[in-house]
Amino acid sequence: MEVKLNDEVQSVIYADSPLRQAVLQRLNRGQAMSHISGGSVNFEIIHFRETDSTNNRAKCYAAEGCKDRTLFVADCQTRGKGRRGRSWLSDSDSGLWMSLLLRPDLKPDKASMLTLVAALAVAEALGNIVSQTMGNTGLGFSIKWPNDIVTGQKKVCGILTEMGTDADSIDYVVIGIGINVNTQQIPESIRETATSLYLETGGHYQREDIIAEFIQSFEKYYNKFLENGSLKGIMEDYNNKLINRNRQVRVLGTSDELVGEALGIDETGALIVQTDDGKVKTVVAGEVSVRGIYGYV
Ligand code: BTN
Repeated sequence: MEVKLNDEVQSVIYADSPLRQAVLQRLNRGQAMSHISGGSVNFEIIHFRETDSTNNRAKCYAAEGCKDRTLFVADCQTRGKGRRGRSWLSDSDSGLWMSLLLRPDLKPDKASMLTLVAALAVAEALGNIVSQTMGNTGLGFSIKWPNDIVTGQKKVCGILTEMGTDADSIDYVVIGIGINVNTQQIPESIRETATSLYLETGGHYQREDIIAEFIQSFEKYYNKFLENGSLKGIMEDYNNKLINRNRQVRVLGTSDELVGEALGIDETGALIVQTDDGKVKTVVAGEVSVRGIYGYV
C-alpha cells in the first residue's frame, strides 16, 4: 500500500529499518515456538527516525487504510503527547515511543479496555526484559490503574489511547506507549514521580528486545480479550499487577470526592472501590484518575 505522509509534518521514515528487522528476527525465532502451542505473531512495524507523534502518524495511516496490528515507532518525537493535553518529553532515542494501530470489530464502548490490555502486556514485557538482562533484581513492574506502569513507586511508562469511530463501531484504536528506557536524567519537575529502566536497574536495554517482548505479551492477552469481548480472561493477571489493589485511593475528577480501598478491576476494566462506610462503587476508566492517599501510588 502506498502511504502519503502529511507534508506539514517533517517525518523521516526508515525505508529498511535495522530496528524493524531486529524485532521481526526476534519474533520469528519466538514464532517457531509459539506455533507449537498454536499461537502466531502477526505484526507490521513502521519506524520513523523523527516525527511529531507516533499517535498522529498512526491516525494518518489509519485514514489511508493501514492494516490492523501495525506498530509505529519513532526514535524521536517533536510533539509527543501525554494524557490530559500534556506534552510528553520524547526528543531523543533514550526511550521507546510507539503507537499500536488496532482495527477490531467492536463497539466503541469496549475501546477503553484495550488500554488495560496494553498496560498488562507492557508490565509483563518489562519484567521479562529486566530479568533477562540483569538477572533477578527483585524489581517488579506494576500497573497504576488504569494504565501507568510503575516500578520502584514511580512511573516508567504512560499510555495514551485515541479512537476513531465509524457509525457505531470502532474504525481504529491507537494505543500510544511511552517508556523511559535508557533515560539518565528525569526533569526536576517530574523527578518525584517518574523514572526510567536505567535509573531503577543500572542496565541498558535494546528497544528491539522490549518491542519483541511487548508484541508477544500483547498478542497473548489481546487474543484472550477478543475471545471474551471483555477482560474476563485476563482480569486476574491484571489484578495481580495492580499496585492500587488493597490500598487506599482517592478518585479525582468526580463531583464528590471518593476515597476508599481499591479491590481490583471488574471484567469491563472499571475499578472497584470500597468506601469506609462499606459501600462498593465502580469507577470507569477515562472519566477520572486515581491517586494513592499518600503519594503517586
Ligand atoms: C501519559 O500521559 O501518561 C501518556 C503518555 C503517552 C506517550 C506516548 S509516546 C508514544 C505515543 N506518541 C505520543 O505522542 N504519545 C504516546
